Amino acid sequence: MKIVVIGATGTVGKAVVEALRDRNEIIKVGSKSGDHQVDIKDAGSIRKLFEKTGRFDALVSTAGKVYFVDFAALTEKEVQVGLRDKLMGQVNLVLIGRDFINDNGSFTLTSGVLTHDPIRFGACASLVNGALEAFVRAAAIELPRGLRINVVSPGVLVESLPTYGDYFRGHEAVPAKRVGSAYLKAVEGRLTGQILSVL
Ligand SMILES: NC(=O)c1ccc[n+]([C@@H]2O[C@H](COP(=O)([O-])OP(=O)(O)OC[C@H]3O[C@@H](n4cnc5c(N)ncnc54)[C@H](OP(=O)(O)O)[C@@H]3O)[C@@H](O)[C@H]2O)c1
Repeated sequence: MKIVVIGATGTVGKAVVEALRDRNEIIKVGSKSGDHQVDIKDAGSIRKLFEKTGRFDALVSTAGKVYFVDFAALTEKEVQVGLRDKLMGQVNLVLIGRDFINDNGSFTLTSGVLTHDPIRFGACASLVNGALEAFVRAAAIELPRGLRINVVSPGVLVESLPTYGDYFRGHEAVPAKRVGSAYLKAVEGRLTGQILSVL
């Protein structure tokens, strides 16, 4: 399969590439790194990317920024960052990607554990993750041409503890390899409309 991985150079993205690369052609995409660059906040940039990659069989997104902010200081400005980037960025990858994905192809997005297991400073992330999961459940029942869509919801990765560990006190971190397997299941299996939780 020809698989476009958005965020391929990140901590989660590298695990996805590792899980899929033996049997598939992987197109790695980042904002500055990778075979191609895109800004998922910009619909025009997404369309240009797909015009360069050409048609594909699967799209995996492991990109999307949210701010971690003390709720007392949280304003619309910080919330909008997550809505534009992690939420609408990934939604637009699907909406625009429909024009470029082959029959029976799949979309796999990324949410995270905070939908159901909130932490301090995590209100934006919980909001965006919940919206993504609801979108995936709904889109799955209307996608045409045998297309599938799933979302992987990882707990904090062991590899990310140096960066995020302080926010996730008491959470059992998951190794990147196990997270990569969930994306493999979503792409090479036949599931659709699923939230694949990795805890
Ligand atoms: N890490 C965890 O423990 C964890 C757990 C649960 C959920 N998640 C979610 O998983 C996603 C990825 O997390 P991560 O830790 O792997 O992040 P990361 O290491 O910072 O990697 C982010 C990746 O996305 C790309 N990227 C950033 N902004 C972009 C944009 N505007 N357009 C296109 N690509 C962009 C980066 O490319 P460049 O390097 O070229 O900028 C990089 O490849 C996030 O949404 C995060 O909330 C992460």
